[in-house]
Amino acid sequence: MSFLKIERLTKRYDHITAVDGISLEIERGEFISLLGPSGCGKTTTLQMIAGFTDVTSGRIVLDGRDLAEVPPAKRGLGLVFQSYALFPHMTVAANVGFGLEMRKVNRADRDRRVAAALQLVGLSSMADRYPRRMSGGQQQRVALARALVIEPNLLLLDEPLSNLDAKLRDEMQGELRDIQERTGLTTILVTHDQSEAMALSDRIVVLNKGAIEQVGPPEAAYKTPSSHFVASFLGRTNTLEGNREGPSVSVKDQRWTVGEDGNSGPILVAVRPERISFGETGLKGIVRKRVFQGSQWFFEVESEAGPIVVLAPNDSRRLPGTGDTVCLAWQAEDMRVLPRDRAV
Ligand SMILES: Nc1ncnc2c1ncn2[C@@H]1O[C@H](COP(=O)(O)OP(=O)(O)O)[C@@H](O)[C@H]1O
Ligand SMILES: [Mg+2]
Repeated sequence: MSFLKIERLTKRYDHITAVDGISLEIERGEFISLLGPSGCGKTTTLQMIAGFTDVTSGRIVLDGRDLAEVPPAKRGLGLVFQSYALFPHMTVAANVGFGLEMRKVNRADRDRRVAAALQLVGLSSMADRYPRRMSGGQQQRVALARALVIEPNLLLLDEPLSNLDAKLRDEMQGELRDIQERTGLTTILVTHDQSEAMALSDRIVVLNKGAIEQVGPPEAAYKTPSSHFVASFLGRTNTLEGNREGPSVSVKDQRWTVGEDGNSGPILVAVRPERISFGETGLKGIVRKRVFQGSQWFFEVESEAGPIVVLAPNDSRRLPGTGDTVCLAWQAEDMRVLPRDRAV
């Protein structure tokens, strides 16, 4: 049986359905991300699991226990939010130990557990500091230690890294994953950052307008998105209008055999920028923009099928310049055929 089971979870406000019948099963030890644009219901979902927001309908079962009648403090959850919410007048050690004090853990055990939690987040040397004398990244580590110290059965993180600058965020991502692997804690991370979700998660849950669009490991969701929404949200993608005739798919006068048979008619084709190459034949276009990005070049091409972006590795190959006429080619296995009627 799964460790956390969410069944048809729904939250309605007066005129808004914030969460619309989400069902999800999470295994013990899994790292799951809830990923989606602002307003898609990520925080509301997490808050219902935490018990801070009432459930309109549906069920949440944690480790075999229905949480409906369990108050937030009795759910055994570790929580980290975007704002650190540390007590400014208390030292790091006192902040981290506060939850244990509330739980009437004795002094010796408390000191031992606080020291272990601070070591886990790499802050052993800062136990006696005050939060205001620490950087944003350090404060967020204190918040993480405070969540870990109670030995939660589930760790809930709501955009914990979004206030940090890019370099620190990368660093903290690595540490978060490291800590999660070492503790084996079942973790749910809420984020709108697709690269963060991909870097950290065992599985990504892509949300759109309060409902699940797709659930899967990062690579599978990236390579085989089930909708236009997922394809464009998970990294950059080109979406082109095409047509399907049985096993064959066409965009303008280019044609690919995609193998499996399908209904004939208008479709959308999604192709990642890094799967497209400049060749002798293919979709015709003109390079409008070319940007050097270090390990790769970024191109914007105005093609006969609409604008297309291309990423080309910075190797020894000769690449076109701005204004050049080009042909864009890709393999059948590099494209996803999606229904055209799906809402974007
Ligand atoms: N307390 C509330 N009252 C009314 N509407 C709310 C409330 N909280 C959230 N919402 C709405 O529910 C939707 C989902 O919000 P939220 O879960 O915060 O999204 P996310 O975290 O994905 O950005 C939004 O449309 C938001 O405006
Ligand atoms: Mg939110």
